[in-house]
Amino acid sequence: MLQLLFVALSVFGVSQAQVFGLGKCAQVKTQESFDLNRYLGTWYEIYKFNSNFEGKQKCVSANYQLQSNGHVRVDNIGFENGEKKEAVGDGYVPDKNYPSRLGVRFSNLAPYAKYWILDTDYTNYTMIYSCTDILELFHISYAWILGRDRTLDESIENRLFAKAESYGIDTSNFLKEDQTGC
Ligand SMILES: *[C@@H]1O[C@H](CO)[C@@H](O)[C@H](O)[C@H]1NC(C)=O
Repeated sequence: MLQLLFVALSVFGVSQAQVFGLGKCAQVKTQESFDLNRYLGTWYEIYKFNSNFEGKQKCVSANYQLQSNGHVRVDNIGFENGEKKEAVGDGYVPDKNYPSRLGVRFSNLAPYAKYWILDTDYTNYTMIYSCTDILELFHISYAWILGRDRTLDESIENRLFAKAESYGIDTSNFLKEDQTGC
């Protein structure tokens, strides 16, 4: 139980973004064909699940770099009251049959948490879902929409929200992130 909580709380490192829900995780479809190489580089946080209004960071970015062992170096940077916060993690694809389902962790002591890519076009947006069932009674979920720029086209946002809703993900949990004055 404690370990499960630890997984859920460590999935995105710098960003506290957990949402508790009753019942099981949403049954989502992840992107079928996925090219990790095109996914690398810098992304900016546009929306994320957030139930935590304190210690809110702004200008959050994620940088993904391929390592020689095939894993991905994850480098998340955000600013809290002008102070830089950084979390470096490790990601990889546990099952080659599901190339868009990564596992990510920010501590060698933590198990890998799900980082499932629901939809990305590599050049504009990505939508990620991470959910852990707990005792089949409730779940802790996270979701993010990241963009290659600090702003995202409204038509893309609307399409991604609709897709998330179609999987039963409650998009009212999405909060717009602050990417101004960065
Ligand atoms: C997505 O990104 C590409 C390449 O940067 C750009 O040409 C295209 O207009 C973008 N699409 C949308 C819908 O913003």
